[in-house]
Amino acid sequence: MDFEKLVTHRYSTRSYKPDPVEEEKLNKILEAAQMAPTAANRQPFQLIIIHTEGRQEELRRIYNKDWFVEGPLVICACSLPQKSWERRKYDSKNYAIVDTSIVVDHITLQAADIGLGTCWVGDFNPDAARKILHIPDEVNPIAFTPLGYPNDTPRTKKRKPLEELVRYERW
Ligand SMILES: Cc1cc2nc3c(=O)[nH]c(=O)nc-3n(C[C@H](O)[C@H](O)[C@H](O)COP(=O)(O)O)c2cc1C
Repeated sequence: MDFEKLVTHRYSTRSYKPDPVEEEKLNKILEAAQMAPTAANRQPFQLIIIHTEGRQEELRRIYNKDWFVEGPLVICACSLPQKSWERRKYDSKNYAIVDTSIVVDHITLQAADIGLGTCWVGDFNPDAARKILHIPDEVNPIAFTPLGYPNDTPRTKKRKPLEELVRYERW
């Protein structure tokens, strides 16, 4: 798919078929994640690939929606703030969340390109995620997404017009 088509085609999929995701397709998605740019190339992230089969109940304690556990896989993207780049010279801003978000974006776009659905999930219960997935204290779960074959059709995208989003030369 060319890039212009891909960015308009990707949408938040909130209905999934139970069909498994082929290993080659999952690998392709993980390789796209690996190629994501990160500040100072620190790659301060970890992905947890979770098979939903038999774990639906506990996964729903993390995010309680049917569609979250309908597909075969859920991915949890975690950041490692102790390993990420910080803007030390100025304000020490830590870029771990930015890096991990770019990784998730690569995942969602690569998945869409090969016919798979994803949906960013930020509204999950972080305590439940930590407990169920054994995430250590120094690691932060940033986003989840289901991964599977869509069982719905894309909606038309609602976006603000560019005039509301872009300024030129100054604020
Ligand atoms: C950081 C982030 C967090 C999000 N969290 C959720 C969520 O918890 N639940 C959900 O249903 N959608 C979530 N979304 C999906 C957005 O609602 C969706 O991307 C937006 O409405 C645009 O629709 P589209 O992805 O179909 O283009 C999230 C998206 C982003 C980028």
